[in-house]
Amino acid sequence: MDIRLSSASSKEFGGQRLAVFILFWGFLTSSGPWAAPAPPPPRPPQPSNGPGQNNNGLLSPSDFSAAVAVFSQQQTPSTGLGPVFNDDACAQCHHAPNVGGDSQVTALRAGIFSEGVFSDPPGGSLIDHRALAPQIVPRVPNNANVRSIRASISTLGDGYVEAVPDQTLLSIAAAQPGLSNGQIHGVANWVPVLELPHSTAVGRFGWKSQHASLLSFSADAFRNEMGITTPLFPTELSSNGNSVQAFEPAGFFETTPNRPNNNDVISVTSFIRSTPVRARIPGAPDLGVVPRGVVLSGQAQFIKAGEGTFMTIGCAICHVASLTTGAQGTAVNGGAYTVQPPLAGITFHPFSDYLLHDVGTGDGIVQTGDQSTRNLIRTAPLWGISTRKTLMHDGASLDIPAAISRHAGEASVVIQSFNALPASDQQNLITFLNSL
Ligand code: HEC
Ligand code: HEC
Repeated sequence: MDIRLSSASSKEFGGQRLAVFILFWGFLTSSGPWAAPAPPPPRPPQPSNGPGQNNNGLLSPSDFSAAVAVFSQQQTPSTGLGPVFNDDACAQCHHAPNVGGDSQVTALRAGIFSEGVFSDPPGGSLIDHRALAPQIVPRVPNNANVRSIRASISTLGDGYVEAVPDQTLLSIAAAQPGLSNGQIHGVANWVPVLELPHSTAVGRFGWKSQHASLLSFSADAFRNEMGITTPLFPTELSSNGNSVQAFEPAGFFETTPNRPNNNDVISVTSFIRSTPVRARIPGAPDLGVVPRGVVLSGQAQFIKAGEGTFMTIGCAICHVASLTTGAQGTAVNGGAYTVQPPLAGITFHPFSDYLLHDVGTGDGIVQTGDQSTRNLIRTAPLWGISTRKTLMHDGASLDIPAAISRHAGEASVVIQSFNALPASDQQNLITFLNSL
């Protein structure tokens, strides 16, 4: 049984039953002359991990439900939201199919490319969509000739990704040219680990592998998506480079050292670290066995055949099927974090190398990498793709065949092999991906 799907759907159905019951009750009580005014029916709860569900055991059930609550908490100006922001809770953009997943929400980046060099516009390349006052809503500067939409990415299972030693990713990068006649050469993006000054690690999170540490990413998201500063990101967002201090509630966290909301960064990080991997859970049978996911009866043989094709034609050179987390006590994040059970020594199946590649889709934005990363994008992990609807970094591909056909550059030869397959083999490969 797949934990991810079963917990989401049982919650959802529970909620729907409750709502139907309440509506029916409302109908009964309001239709007679004896009716008291019925209160509006409560909205059914969102499908969510819920307390104790989908917890890999890193946190106690009560700590886990507290961490889910912080991840889902709708921030307000009095808890630090804004003045410039994109949305008001992590879960607003990370909720499908469970809290922590992906969503239809996108972020916008823009910048200036001139004489071979990308530069940020004033205020940075992330152009937030919202603000507490209309006059400070950021705009795309007129001279920004590079513009990009970024789809939100699921965080489910990312604790395992963080626990993979740098050396594993470096070894994958080193082997790729030999597996592909030199065509494929993933780039490891070394990035700062903000919680340990002067340390670096191989980036793996975000479309540009712009962070290695989930703590760094979470602090980045608090500041850049919600306008909430913390010790790792102490400077408030601006509106196109102009200060928004005047729109901040007076004396707010942003001017106080040791902001209390640093605990929230730790909570959401622990929440992400404690969600199990998606689809093929730890301890599940390895490749070659029918995967967990949306497996319709009678499809098992097609899934298995499609998986074989995926492995042999070269998709898996980049979409690496299996990674293993470091043994207990392994230092990752440049020494800032030590792998502990239940994350230690787990083999999981993300179908990504977490390296940057040029597959012809690059959006021209430079983030934590150097200028050479301008048109590189991280190999999209394919776990959980069965519930994703908008694919690729810009969300512009609306099904798997559309996403495959956009691959070029380093992936050209592999895609030619895919295109040369009989239609039934192509279909099996897609059936396989839809089972993840
Ligand atoms: C407005 C929507 C939005 C909000 C709010 C938001 N995120 Fe995200 N998140 C995104 C988008 C978009 C990306 C992809 C960004 C990119 O790489 O360009 C992302 C990526 C991530 C990733 C990388 C996942 C991976 O596997 O690569 C993590 C981790 C993450 N967000 C955590 C958080 C946390 C924690 C919060 C709350 C503090 C949060 N996000 C709030 C939209 C959002
Ligand atoms: C050279 C490395 C490489 C190879 C080979 C490769 N891919 Fe990809 N794949 C990527 C990168 C990089 C992305 C993200 C591109 C983007 O978002 O612009 C991606 C994205 C995808 C996506 C979209 C996933 C999502 O969630 O958005 C699918 C589906 C996919 N690849 C399937 C395949 C299949 C099937 C093959 C083999 C026929 C293949 N890929 C071969 C690197 C590769």
